Amino acid sequence: MNQFGGDWTDKKIEILVEYAKAYLVIMNKRSYWKLMYFDGFAGTGFIVKENTVDFNITIGAARRIIEIDSPKPFDEYYFVEKNSNKVKQLIQNTKKAYPQKKIYIQEEDCNKKMCDLAVFLKSKKGKYHKILAYIDPCGMQVEWKSIENLKGLPVDMWVLVPTGLGVNRLLKKNGQISDAWIKRLELFLGLSREEIESFFYMKVQNLFNQDMFIKSSDAINKSGQLYKKRLEEVFEFVSKPFELKNSANTIMYHLYLASNNKAAITIANDIVNKYNR
Ligand SMILES: C[S@@+](CC[C@H](N)C(=O)[O-])C[C@H]1O[C@@H](n2cnc3c(N)ncnc32)[C@H](O)[C@@H]1O
Repeated sequence: MNQFGGDWTDKKIEILVEYAKAYLVIMNKRSYWKLMYFDGFAGTGFIVKENTVDFNITIGAARRIIEIDSPKPFDEYYFVEKNSNKVKQLIQNTKKAYPQKKIYIQEEDCNKKMCDLAVFLKSKKGKYHKILAYIDPCGMQVEWKSIENLKGLPVDMWVLVPTGLGVNRLLKKNGQISDAWIKRLELFLGLSREEIESFFYMKVQNLFNQDMFIKSSDAINKSGQLYKKRLEEVFEFVSKPFELKNSANTIMYHLYLASNNKAAITIANDIVNKYNR
């Protein structure tokens, strides 16, 4: 079973499930579409949260979505998980537990499968498909080019962006970011080193006329805004963020819905507002 999470783990799953139910109500009237749920970081189907004295188990997103039958279920479920032990558990918890449902499980990197998804949707076979995607990484595994590939396609995508836990931590205060971290930021944001530096840092000169970088004091919110702007270059509409905060009230992740459908964003914003309160 997966071992991570906090209260916000439950909230992000509730947001996804509420949205999926609203999506299925709308799609129920449009039976010509084949509906696929695509989960890029599927986990095992269950999440274990441990503290020093006990632990509790949350039903993971993959299983929660499979359990929806009303007003209608999805026609197909496509789960991607990179860890082979987790894949074995995922098979038991989804495919074996729901043999009547059309479930595909791939032991792969999500980036590869997002690219395959784009190719499929552009093919003759994929023409009548609509996708609800859930991209729920723990770190900065999603490369920008994987998202860019989805441009113009019938995908509603919830994406969890590690702004506080990822981007902000790699942006060193003094601007002295290692090459490996810069590479990671470039792949994640789809921007060059210069673009990243000029967005997050102010360049000043010290008394000895040497260049110094001063990091923005609001880098977490700025990275959330930047990612939203990037998403708006690929999708027509992007929701307000759901902010996942730790016990010190610091934002760790921003969760967005990106879609080419305005009504989808209205629904998502209502749900996000409720959970941000
Ligand atoms: C936050 S967990 C997902 C939790 C899941 N959405 C749920 O509700 O139970 C992230 C999962 O992604 C897997 N993972 C990490 N890197 C990956 C990658 N590049 N591609 C696919 N899966 C990956 C991890 O093994 C882990 O199970």
